[in-house]
Amino acid sequence: TGLRPVRSPREIPTLDHTPQIPDTNPVEYFAELSKQFPEGIFSMDIAGQENVFVYDPDLVTEVCDETRFGKPIFPPLSHVRDYAGAGLFTAHDDEEVWGMAHRILMPAFSQRAMKGYFGQMLEIAQNLVGKWERKQGQTVKVTDDYTRLTLDTIALSGFGYRFDSFGKEELHPFLQALLEALVESMRRSQELPMMTKLRTADDKKYRENIQLMRELVESVIKERRRGKSGGEDDLLGLMMEAVDPETGRRLDDDNVRDQVLTFLIAGHETTSGLLSFATYSLMRNPHVLAQAYAEVDRMLPGDTVPSYDTIMKLDVIPRVLEETLRLWAPIPQIMKAPLEDTVIGGRYHLEQGTKTNLLMFPTHTHPKAWERPLEFDIDRWLPDNRAQHHPHAYKPFGNGRRACIGRQFALTEARLALALVLQKFKFSDTTDYQMDVREALTRKPGDFELVVRTRQEHE
Ligand code: HEM
Repeated sequence: TGLRPVRSPREIPTLDHTPQIPDTNPVEYFAELSKQFPEGIFSMDIAGQENVFVYDPDLVTEVCDETRFGKPIFPPLSHVRDYAGAGLFTAHDDEEVWGMAHRILMPAFSQRAMKGYFGQMLEIAQNLVGKWERKQGQTVKVTDDYTRLTLDTIALSGFGYRFDSFGKEELHPFLQALLEALVESMRRSQELPMMTKLRTADDKKYRENIQLMRELVESVIKERRRGKSGGEDDLLGLMMEAVDPETGRRLDDDNVRDQVLTFLIAGHETTSGLLSFATYSLMRNPHVLAQAYAEVDRMLPGDTVPSYDTIMKLDVIPRVLEETLRLWAPIPQIMKAPLEDTVIGGRYHLEQGTKTNLLMFPTHTHPKAWERPLEFDIDRWLPDNRAQHHPHAYKPFGNGRRACIGRQFALTEARLALALVLQKFKFSDTTDYQMDVREALTRKPGDFELVVRTRQEHE
C-alpha cells in the first residue's frame, strides 16, 4: 500500500519524547520542530500517549472535516475541566449539556447582541484610555492593562459584574489564580500522573486557586439572585433562566457555575493577547501604523466618541487584527481526534482517538498557502485577496461546531479598543522590546511595556 509512517523527531520510536519538551512554551517548541518535517505532519510520544502534529493546509483540511474528526478532551483540556467542568470549552462533543448550552447561548453572540454590549464595551475602553492619560509620558504595562480591559468587559457585558480593575494597582487575585491554574494544567499534561501526585505542595496550591476562582463565580451568581446586577438577556440571564428549545430544560446550578467561569476565562485571555500582539505588530510596522492612524483620524476625528456603526465600518483596524491573528494566534494549537481509524493525505494512518494537534503558526505561515509568510501584510485581507486564500490555512478561532462562540464579541471589543487607543495615543518603545512569548494554554507577550503620550500633546 502507499501508507507511510508519520515521522518522529527521534530515531527510536519506542522512547517517550517527554524529557525533550521544555517546561515553558511547549507549543513554540513544536512549531520549531515542524521545520524538520516539511511533509506537514510529525508525531511524538508525550506522557505515554502518541501526539500527531499537523500543519500542511491540505492535511488540516482533512482534520477539519467534522464527519471524520471531533474535539477530544485530553490533557491539558481534561485538567482544565478541574475548574471549567462541563462548560462549553471543555465539554465533550457528545455531552448533552454541550448542545443545551450552545443552543441557549448562541443568541447572546449574534450580531444584534453585539450592539447591545457596545455601551459596556465603550465604558471599559474609556477606563483604559483614562488610565493611560493619567500615565502621560510614563511607561505602561501594555498586556496587563489589556487584560484589565478584556476581563472587565466580559464581566460587565456578560454578567453585569464590575471588577473595576482600572481603579486598582494590582491585577485582580482571580487573574493570578487563573494563570497559576492554567500553568499547572499544562504541566500536568506533560508528565505521568504519578509525577503529579508527588508534587503535593503544587497540588495544594492548585486546589486553593480553583477554590478562589469558584468563590468569585459564586459571588457573581449571588449578586444576580439578589437582583443587584445586569439584565435578563445577558449571558448570565440566559444561563440561569433560558430553556433549551430542544430538551425543554434549563442548565443546572453546577453547570451555570462552570459556564460563568468558562466565559470569564475564555472571554478575556485571548482578546488581551490579540490586542497586545496587535499593538506590538503596529510598533514594528510603521507604514501599517500610519494607515491605522489615518483611518482613525478620518472616521473618528478629534474626540469623536465611536458609535457601534462607525466601529463596524472600520477597514484598516479589522485587517490589522486578522493579520495579527495569523502571525500571533493567541491559542497556538487545538486538538482533534479521528472518530474512526482513518488515513489522511492518502498515506498517513491514524487510529481512532489519536491526539491530532493542529499547530496554528506553522499552518498560518505554510508556504503552500501564504506568500511571504512571515511578512505582516494587512493587504492579504482585502476582499479580492481574501477570496484567493487556501480555505483551511487560517484557524485562529478553531473549527466547525466547536469553533469560538465569542468571535464577534472579541473582534468588536478589539476593534473598539484599538480605535480608541489610536485616536488618543502615540507610543514609544524606549526599551526596544524583544518579543518574549509566554504560553499558558493561550499565549501573550511577557513584560511588554511602552511609553504613552497623548497625541495632541505630542504633535
Ligand atoms: C472556543 C479562540 C475570544 C469563548 C475557541 C476556540 C478557539 C478560540 C481557537 C476553539 C478551541 C478548541 O477547539 O479547543 C479565540 C480567540 C479569541 C477568542 C483567538 C480572541 C481573539 C473569545 C471570547 C469568548 C470566547 C471573547 C467569550 C465571550 C469561547 C468559548 C469556546 C471558544 C465558550 C468554546 C466553544 C465550544 O466548544 O462550544 N476560542 N477565542 N472566546 N471560545 Fe474563543
